[in-house]
Amino acid sequence: MEELILFRIDWFGKNNLLSKKERLPGHIAIIMDGNGRWAQKRGLPRTAGHREGARTLNRIVKYCSTIGIKYLTVYAFSTENWSRPKSEVDALMELLKEYLDKADKELEGHDVKINVLGSSERLSEDLKKKISNVVEKTANNKGLVLNVAFNYGGRDEIVNAVRKIAQDVKNGNIKIQDINESLVSKKLYTAGMPDPELVIRPSGEKRISNFLIWQSSYAELWYSNVLWPDFKEKHLMQAIKDFNKRHRRFGGI
Ligand code: FPP
Repeated sequence: MEELILFRIDWFGKNNLLSKKERLPGHIAIIMDGNGRWAQKRGLPRTAGHREGARTLNRIVKYCSTIGIKYLTVYAFSTENWSRPKSEVDALMELLKEYLDKADKELEGHDVKINVLGSSERLSEDLKKKISNVVEKTANNKGLVLNVAFNYGGRDEIVNAVRKIAQDVKNGNIKIQDINESLVSKKLYTAGMPDPELVIRPSGEKRISNFLIWQSSYAELWYSNVLWPDFKEKHLMQAIKDFNKRHRRFGGI
């Protein structure tokens, strides 16, 4: 209760107030970058940065749920991250397991529906089981949809979609003329979800890094020098406010 009151004071505080003209993006995507540097600055192992990053993730998920964001997609492990030292890869696998195990309790009362986007190839049986458990458990939740992109790559996702479509053509289920943007979208991991309107990348890097490359075609990009473990609710609100100042033309004038 105390947390709720503090939150309300914060949310309705001067800098966090959304005016009537401002609106929330329907779908926010975040590249959770800077964990390693956060840890290095403190003389800690990189994995300590990831652990702190997972705490930040929980805070931001709760905040998104409370303010009414409908979809949040976070980049937790890319198809390229396999090239990191085995100890770091193993730690990230363990962290996801832990996250999924605790998600129920941690996000209790927030009505969050959890999906994991990405290829299940190379994931351990144990991890796959934990993923399907949490997806099943939260499937009927009606609040925020949290997509954890894990073993995810945008190009890999598109290659998969092309394979599925080619198979459908081969099986005679569709004709080549039926292939259009909407069909491709339906074959992506995000099928049925709106495209992200706002993509946030902390830590000073200004790249999209193979994240939701099809879905983010028209998204507004927001960068910050803050490292992900230091990312706070006020930074998210700043991004939303800046998003509202952008004039989105979708190729028009
Ligand atoms: C990029 O920062 C971050 C990652 C590769 C992992 C992101 C994971 C978390 C935030 C923890 C939550 C994860 C799960 C599994 C729920 P980096 O390591 O590249 O940082 P650097 O650029 O400073 O080295």
